[in-house]
Amino acid sequence: MCGIFGVVGHRPAGPILLEGLKKLEYRGYDSCGIASVSEGKLHVRKGIGKIDEVEQRHGLSGVPGTVALSHSRWATHGGVTDQNAHPHTDCAGRIAIVHNGIIENFQELKRELHQKGHRIASQTDTELIAHLLEEFPGSLETKMAQAAARIRGSFALLAVSTEEPHKMVALRCESPLVIGIGSDAIYAASDVMPFLEHTDQAIFLEDHEMAVITPGAVSFENVRTRSSVNKKPRTLQWTAEQAGKEGHPHFMIKEILEQPAAIQNAMRQDPDKLEKFVQLIRNSRDVKFVACGTSRHAALVGRYAINRLAGKTAEVYIASEFSYFADQSTPDTLIIAVSQSGETADVLVGLRKAKAKGAKVASIVNVVGSSIDRESDASLSLNCGPEIAVASTKAFTAQLVVLYVVAHALAGKSAEGTAALKQVAAHAADLMPQWNETTRALAASWTEHEHVYFLGRGVNFPVALEGALKLKEISYIHAEGMPAGELKHGTLALIETHTPVVLLNPHDYTFVDTLSNGSETKARGARLIGVSDRSNEAYDAYIPLPQVAELFYPLVSVLPLQLLAYHAAVLRGHDVDRPRNLAKSVTVR
Ligand code: G6P
Repeated sequence: MCGIFGVVGHRPAGPILLEGLKKLEYRGYDSCGIASVSEGKLHVRKGIGKIDEVEQRHGLSGVPGTVALSHSRWATHGGVTDQNAHPHTDCAGRIAIVHNGIIENFQELKRELHQKGHRIASQTDTELIAHLLEEFPGSLETKMAQAAARIRGSFALLAVSTEEPHKMVALRCESPLVIGIGSDAIYAASDVMPFLEHTDQAIFLEDHEMAVITPGAVSFENVRTRSSVNKKPRTLQWTAEQAGKEGHPHFMIKEILEQPAAIQNAMRQDPDKLEKFVQLIRNSRDVKFVACGTSRHAALVGRYAINRLAGKTAEVYIASEFSYFADQSTPDTLIIAVSQSGETADVLVGLRKAKAKGAKVASIVNVVGSSIDRESDASLSLNCGPEIAVASTKAFTAQLVVLYVVAHALAGKSAEGTAALKQVAAHAADLMPQWNETTRALAASWTEHEHVYFLGRGVNFPVALEGALKLKEISYIHAEGMPAGELKHGTLALIETHTPVVLLNPHDYTFVDTLSNGSETKARGARLIGVSDRSNEAYDAYIPLPQVAELFYPLVSVLPLQLLAYHAAVLRGHDVDRPRNLAKSVTVR
C-alpha cells in the first residue's frame, strides 16, 4: 500500500526523500509527491506516474528546506490524478500531510468539514485530515492528538506545519510506521528501507503512538492518554547493500537467483525460538494457518509437511476470509500467521480477533519488528534479507524452509530435515542456470497465449497455485493453478488446441494420477509442459527437477516456475518489479 517517508535534519531534504521514496515504491506507484517547509512556506510538488517520471516533470528533489515529507501512492479513495496525489494541505496552505491507510468515517468528516467552510480539493480521505488539523488550536502534536480522536480507520500519518517549521509529527494507528535515528537526521517511514543507507537504529511505533521529531531529537507519546512513552532504538540486521539490485536488471531476477543462499539462511533458526514455536503447535488442538497470496501457498505446503511428518492436522485460511471465523477461536487455538512483510492488514485483523478469544499466535515473517512479529507469542524469521520485487520469490522459498524446519522439529527429525534441505540448496544452485535458459526459451513460445493452466496434486498442488499466481501478477497472462484431479469438473472445458498446461509431476506419490490428468488435457489438444525429475513421452516440453525426498519437491519445482513468469513478463515488455495495480505490502483491508 502507500509508502510514506519524512526527514528532519540539517541537509537539504529533497534528494534524501527522492532516494528513499524509490525504495518505498514497491508499496504503490500510482503517483507520488513531496512537501517541505522552508522560509515560512510550504512547497508541494506532486503528480501521477512513477517516481522518476514525476521527478522529471516536477523536480521533487529540488524542494527547498531540511524538513520534508513524501509519499508514494496506491490509490484507495479517489482515482489516480494529480490532485489526489499526496501530500495534501489544509485551506490556509500551512499544514501538509501524507497518509498510508484508510479513513473509515471519511464521509461523515467530509460533510462536517464542508459545512464548516473547508475547501476540499481532492477526492481522497487523506485531505480531510489536513483540514481536520486546521480545526484545532495548539501545537502540531496537540492538533494531531485531537484529530486522531475523530478519525476511525487505519492510518500512519506524517505532518508538517509552517507554524512550527522545524518539527514533524508522526502518528501510527494500525498502519506501519518506524522512526530511524541517524547521526545528522531523524527519519519516519512506512518501513526501514528508505533510511537503511543512513542508519541501522530504528524505533517501531505501536498503535496510537506519536513521535514528535525536531532536529536531533525525538519524543514519543500515546495520543489517547497524552502521556509520554519511553522507547529505545533497536539495531537492524539488514544492510543497504542487500537492498540494491547488484547489477541485475530487476529486483525479481536478483531475488530468484539468491534462493540457494536464501534456503541455507532460512534453515538457521534460533533453537530456543524454534522450540517455543513447536511447543505452541504441540500444545494446541486447533491449528490454523492464516495468510494471503504467496504466503498462503507456502502455508498450504506447511500444512502437508506437519501432517505427513508429525501427524498434526491444520487448516489454512485466506486471511481476509478468516476474520469471519476468528470469533470461534478458543485458548486451544493456535494461529500460525505467515507473512513476508509482517504488516498485511487482513492477517493482523484475523490474529487480533483470535487473540481476543484467547488464541495463541505463532508467526513466520521476514520483517523483524513488524506488527505481526511483535504481536506473536512466538516468531520465526525468514532471514532472507529484504525482498523488493512485488512478486514474492525468495520469501516463498524461505517460508517453505522454515515450515519444513518446524515440521521436522515437531516430528523429532530435525537432523534429517537439515540434511535434506542442504541437499535441496545444492541442487537449486546447480540447476539454476539450466532452468534460466529452458524457461526463457519456453516463455518465448508463450507470449501470444492468454491462458495457461498449472496442475498438481498433494504437496505439489500449492506450487501449481504459486506458478499461476506468479505468471498472472507480472506477465498479465491469465493463469489458473488447480488440483489436477479437479480439472475434469469444469476447467477441462477451457482446454483447446495448444493451450499450455504445466504439469507439476515429480516421481512421488502423486505421479501416476497427475500424469493421467495431464494426458486428459493432451487428448484435448493441450501443450503439456512436464515439471519432473524424469522426462516422459507425454510431455511436449520438459523442465527437469533434481531428485529429492517427496516432501521437498515444492522447494525445487517453484524455482523454474518463477523464472518462467519472469521471462514471460520481460518478453511481453512489462515492468516486472512493479506490476500494474499491485503493491507488495497490503496494509489496507
Ligand atoms: C501482496 C503481495 C504478495 C504477498 C501478499 C501477502 O499481495 O504482492 O506477494 O504474497 O501480499 O503479503 P505478506 O507480506 O503477508 O506475505
